[in-house]
Amino acid sequence: MRTKGAVTPTNLPHLDRDLTDLHSHLVPGVDDGSATLEEAQEALARFREAGVVRVVATPHLEGSLTHDPSALAARLAEVDAAWARLREAPGLPPGEVTLLRGHEVLLDVPDPCLEDPRLRLAGTPFVLVEWPLVHVPPETTRVLSRLVEEGWRPVVAHPERYRGLDPDLTLVGEWRGVGAYLQGNYGSLLGLYGREARRRACLLLERGWLDLLASDFHGRPGLSPQVDEARGLFREWGALEAFSLLGRVNPGRILEGEAPLPVPPLSSPTPSWWERLARKWKRRGKEPECT
Ligand SMILES: [Fe+2]
Repeated sequence: MRTKGAVTPTNLPHLDRDLTDLHSHLVPGVDDGSATLEEAQEALARFREAGVVRVVATPHLEGSLTHDPSALAARLAEVDAAWARLREAPGLPPGEVTLLRGHEVLLDVPDPCLEDPRLRLAGTPFVLVEWPLVHVPPETTRVLSRLVEEGWRPVVAHPERYRGLDPDLTLVGEWRGVGAYLQGNYGSLLGLYGREARRRACLLLERGWLDLLASDFHGRPGLSPQVDEARGLFREWGALEAFSLLGRVNPGRILEGEAPLPVPPLSSPTPSWWERLARKWKRRGKEPECT
């Protein structure tokens, strides 16, 4: 599989390293991510091993909370306290992983107030948003369009994972059309969320619609951010330049407040039945037998 367009990365020796991850749940004890400080530190070590040098912790936050100032203040104070514990904890790898903060804002209301910089990705105009996974609400395109008109840059988390979308992802195309950006999960490409999520993630890559990839790592014991595994997949496809754009260049640009670069469409990243079988054998440490 090859990219259809030319990409000229500026830092070839670190093409697939020095990554930036904009979606993770590592603030201890505030959501369904890392439950303790130790788990969060362990998760940061996993990121470091996988070549991720900047991590944005994005705890869940319901957009409806922003309509209730006292409830929002209480929630942000809770996250602030846990965040401070993580930042100040001894044992964090100094200078090896830069830890930043944001939130993953659930769009359970059409008009969240995003004025507080703690709600956005490292205080930039970019904000990571998600829909309820099991039911995408009506008028999603209008909701995103309104956020753009207000001056924000919505980044829709894992568009491949929402149930009820049409197979051709027409609605996702509309989101892009009004100025939203799309963040795919590494794990979706690896089949972590099922066959349909993988098919959609591959389709988005084939169309060049994904602007960045991230782990959505929940930092629990025994789990991995799936970065190494995804890198291996792009290597198999001969598409490490695209991997670099999606995991390094574009998330880095977002943290600078700059728009992601266009990602050239990948030709047919959907693995064939034979490729999936070969991968399965490889995981078991065996090669398929020729008969
Ligand atoms: Fe998430």
